[in-house]
Amino acid sequence: MTPLAFSMLRLLSDRRFHSGEDIAKSLDVSRASLSNAARSMQSCGITLDRVRGRGYRMNRDFEWLDRDAVVGMMGEKCRHFDIEIRDCIDSTSSELLRTNPPHGKVLAAELQTGGRGRMGRTWFAEPGRSLTFSAAWKFDQGAGFLSGLGLATGLSLVRAMKACGIGDIELKWPNDLLHRHRKLAGILIEVRGDMLGPSHVVIGIGINFSLSETMKERIDQAVVSIDSLPFTNPGRNRLFAAILCELSDMLEIFGKEGFAPFREEWSASHACHGKPVRIRLPSGKILEGRVCGVNEKGEILLEDGQSFSSGEVSLRGKS
Ligand code: BTN
Repeated sequence: MTPLAFSMLRLLSDRRFHSGEDIAKSLDVSRASLSNAARSMQSCGITLDRVRGRGYRMNRDFEWLDRDAVVGMMGEKCRHFDIEIRDCIDSTSSELLRTNPPHGKVLAAELQTGGRGRMGRTWFAEPGRSLTFSAAWKFDQGAGFLSGLGLATGLSLVRAMKACGIGDIELKWPNDLLHRHRKLAGILIEVRGDMLGPSHVVIGIGINFSLSETMKERIDQAVVSIDSLPFTNPGRNRLFAAILCELSDMLEIFGKEGFAPFREEWSASHACHGKPVRIRLPSGKILEGRVCGVNEKGEILLEDGQSFSSGEVSLRGKS
């Protein structure tokens, strides 16, 4: 989506009709450029009402991410983070990995053109329909110490959702949030640094707020969005603020004690606890077993005594 499309979208966020002539005049562009901008929105799942004689109108609510609103809701905890919001970027995580950002830098985007998921997957999201952001954090320890960070981050999301009135969310090892077996959010942890530390971590978080039919078809697994849950939608800015508050508490404790203090609470929300699962290891090898928990390093434990630090878990009998 072009910068002009974002400007046009901002203008249309009041959900009133605006004539092409007025929009063109206030953005200082030609009417033909507006048609192109509208087309570029369409390719990202945003369709405008266009009525002859009245102009363009946005046909759904669009809550823009708003840095001041998020900071305002965070209270004194905002001092842990430096928040930046951009309209469009390839990937908030890629950008933080490229730019050697300061500790506590948070980058959110309305649209990612190259959003990345775990195991080399693509993370799809449409503008205004998701919360996608990354946070840069520095730890004194090396990568081995950070093995449970994705799990602790998942727990922070569950806590934040609970604080915003969204319950019934389960964690799927290692980093997914589910509602009734359908994926609501994902976490991508990327670590740079020496084995012994310090480590520079980029925590990437993607949450589905609403999913168009096109998007549901594009994603190759069962997904769910916040607006379809039986809870009041808190809105993206409120949930964003709540997550950052939870993350700041978690990161401080994790930096001293690792995953251990979070293990019990994490296990209480574990979607696969006690269930027969199939684990696909990064090597491609597939194993079966029954889950009996996670250990203090955040590794998944099977009843036969095996433990794994990475892989993809699916419930046996489900995809
Ligand atoms: C997964 O479930 O596979 C992890 C998804 C992580 C997606 C987020 S969106 C913000 C950040 N930027 C990215 O490119 N990926 C992460």
